[in-house]
Amino acid sequence: MGQKRKRDSWGSRLGIIMAVAGSAIGLGNFLRFPAKAAANGGGAFMIPYFVALLLVGIPLIWIEWTLGRYGGGFEHGTAPGIFHSLLQKNRFIKYFGVIGIFGPLVIFIYYTFIESWTLAYSFFALTGKYTTFLDQNSLRSFLAGFQGIEKNQYFSGISTAYVFFLVTFLLNIWVIYYGIKGGIEKFCRWAMPALFIFGLILMARVLTLGAPDLNHPDWNISAGFGFLWNPDFSALRSAKVWLEAAGQTFFTLSVGIGVILTYASYLKKADDVVLSGLTAATTNEIAEVILGASIIIPAAFVFFGPADIKSIAQSGVFNLGFVTMPLVLNKLPAPQLFGFLWFFFLFLAGITSSVSLAQPAVAFLEDEFNIKRKRAVKIFGITSFILCQPAVFFLSRGVVDELDFWGGTFFLVVFATIETVLFVWVFGMNRAWEEIHKGAEMTIPKVYKFIIKYITPLFLFIILGMWFVQEWLPIIMMKNVSAQDKPFIFATRLGLLLVFLILVILVKIAWKRRPAGRMEVK
Ligand code: ALA
Repeated sequence: MGQKRKRDSWGSRLGIIMAVAGSAIGLGNFLRFPAKAAANGGGAFMIPYFVALLLVGIPLIWIEWTLGRYGGGFEHGTAPGIFHSLLQKNRFIKYFGVIGIFGPLVIFIYYTFIESWTLAYSFFALTGKYTTFLDQNSLRSFLAGFQGIEKNQYFSGISTAYVFFLVTFLLNIWVIYYGIKGGIEKFCRWAMPALFIFGLILMARVLTLGAPDLNHPDWNISAGFGFLWNPDFSALRSAKVWLEAAGQTFFTLSVGIGVILTYASYLKKADDVVLSGLTAATTNEIAEVILGASIIIPAAFVFFGPADIKSIAQSGVFNLGFVTMPLVLNKLPAPQLFGFLWFFFLFLAGITSSVSLAQPAVAFLEDEFNIKRKRAVKIFGITSFILCQPAVFFLSRGVVDELDFWGGTFFLVVFATIETVLFVWVFGMNRAWEEIHKGAEMTIPKVYKFIIKYITPLFLFIILGMWFVQEWLPIIMMKNVSAQDKPFIFATRLGLLLVFLILVILVKIAWKRRPAGRMEVK
């Protein structure tokens, strides 16, 4: 502590765009998106998806970039401080911001574990450990053995997975240890182009598959694309499809989490946010709608056909990524090479997202407690490592799904609603519009003033309302949880509550120790 630290900053505009796009492009683009689209009406899913993108996703991108840059001007890089700088007179507003540290921390503690599987599988592909398996069952038990869910001929426990988890975790810590410019930006500058190159090679491989099953010439690649893109309009009548589509736009853009606020807080006051935000979001959409939709589902279609593909898509994201896709690649020439490319591609997508999930908690310690970065990273590393353990050891008990529901789904929408209301209604739409356009290299169409003020919050409230009506009670009462898993889910919820309360107390302490108001510094 002691002397005042100098805040970190981005080295270049391209750097922050790559980092934000890196945060957005993740496992969600290549596993979650195709699975959701295929399971929710194929092409019809894309209608609510694009509606949610235009009415909520893009407005939230601009809101978060602007809020982050605004708070950074007061040397605040996380939501408690950013919200406080919007309305300095109000003593309570900062507590709403706790979700902006809590959410990314919760996602980080399970996301890094899943990310470590992709690193492990890219290694297993190179060493040929699973590349000769030609049936679902072998690959399924290989995955269950690896995850420590069952002991079998492939794995006798979770130790291999744990080693890869440790390596992945330390890699994340290593990147953030070197800070914004020296760590995250430097890393994303090579990881993002590499990710796109790997993705394009995989896409080209899938596009040239033709119709590999001679008994089924109609199981061809264009029918595979047709399956994903031909709309089933009856799906639009289902509220669930709308919820899933809106949820996917949030998850994929990394909005409502709190990470864009933190990244944007390292901008300078005169830096553009309108075009930069849009560029990062467009890059994410290209990765999702073009690459994400062109790999796993069409590839699975040509091998499994129209009858099985739906159940494959519904069998879950892990099954698609770690069973179906390896099986497809194992049936093709050079399975070791393509298996490696697939999993390392996912690993790059994952790590550029997970470092962004770590940064808010680190920034909170730095900005609000004046702790030096390296020390803040060490504190974060030890704490989050402890918090990761239940996700690693109790995966089969539903702990990861539970963390994903609260951190990766529910609080995302709550936080997005809070920040929108604060920005538009408390800070005021006219000031907000002016703030968004400071240093802007592009003017946002006027219609967006109306959309951001009325439609975005309304849309968010409708999603929240539908959630409460349709899902709240069964979730709270753990209606869909088996009796054996209930204690684990209950303990996870208690743990989450405890983490949340600790963060609230830390915010209280931080504000007690500081002078009453903080002047804008840039
Ligand atoms: N936006 C990140 C993803 O899609 C979290 O995986």
